[in-house]
Amino acid sequence: MRRKLAAGNWKMNGGKAELDGLATLCAEHDGAAVDILICPPFTLIGAAAQQAEGHALAIGGQDCHASEAGAHTGDISARMLAEAGATAVILGHSERRADHGETSDDVRAKARAAHAAGLIAVICVGESLEQREAQNTLDIIGGQISSSVPDTATGENTVIAYEPCWAIGTGLTPTSDQIGEVHDFIRTRLEKRFGAGVGRSVRLLYGGSVKPGNAAEIFTVSNVDGALVGGASLKVDDFSPIVSVLEGAANAS
Ligand code: PGA
Repeated sequence: MRRKLAAGNWKMNGGKAELDGLATLCAEHDGAAVDILICPPFTLIGAAAQQAEGHALAIGGQDCHASEAGAHTGDISARMLAEAGATAVILGHSERRADHGETSDDVRAKARAAHAAGLIAVICVGESLEQREAQNTLDIIGGQISSSVPDTATGENTVIAYEPCWAIGTGLTPTSDQIGEVHDFIRTRLEKRFGAGVGRSVRLLYGGSVKPGNAAEIFTVSNVDGALVGGASLKVDDFSPIVSVLEGAANAS
């Protein structure tokens, strides 16, 4: 049984004031039947981790460098994230692939570094609208999975987030059938490569315009083990109900 996961990606948003929301989130979901992860900007990780201490809330980064240390101005290593209190890191988000030219090979190297530092790598994959319209979705996702997921992946240290680029921040979401098709495909790929044990234990999140209103439908889709939430993770009044819906799905399964 895979433990469900509700993950929030604050992107380049939020300040100290938003940390108050974490206390509310902790209070509302302590003892939850699901894992909860919040990935704030680097500058808030230490304070967020302090706030989360003793609660069922994990804190993560949104990127890391593939090297342990060195002359990489402006970058941050997986070990630094871990030292600040992070237990996970989002890697290969489509915004990083687009804004910073990150390739799947880069993402794999970063994921390996995350594993070496004891972090859970939340590896993102997703097709563009053009790729979907050209019916290349599964080819693109298959390629990204093969190249972005390192051989060090296990069910404990790796989570995969399927985030169609066209659904991120747009209010558009794929149909349940479209989500299910990709999640089933990723599951099969993982089972083939890593064997049934590991392949079945890696959690698969859906991401892209997840809101309190559409979460219930998304969480009933096969092989959807939770969500990676952007915009709706910034306000506890939006994120908390999504966590509650996921708890309901976990209790029902
Ligand atoms: P969104 O972002 O929920 O705002 O669409 C999701 C993400 O980019 O992880």
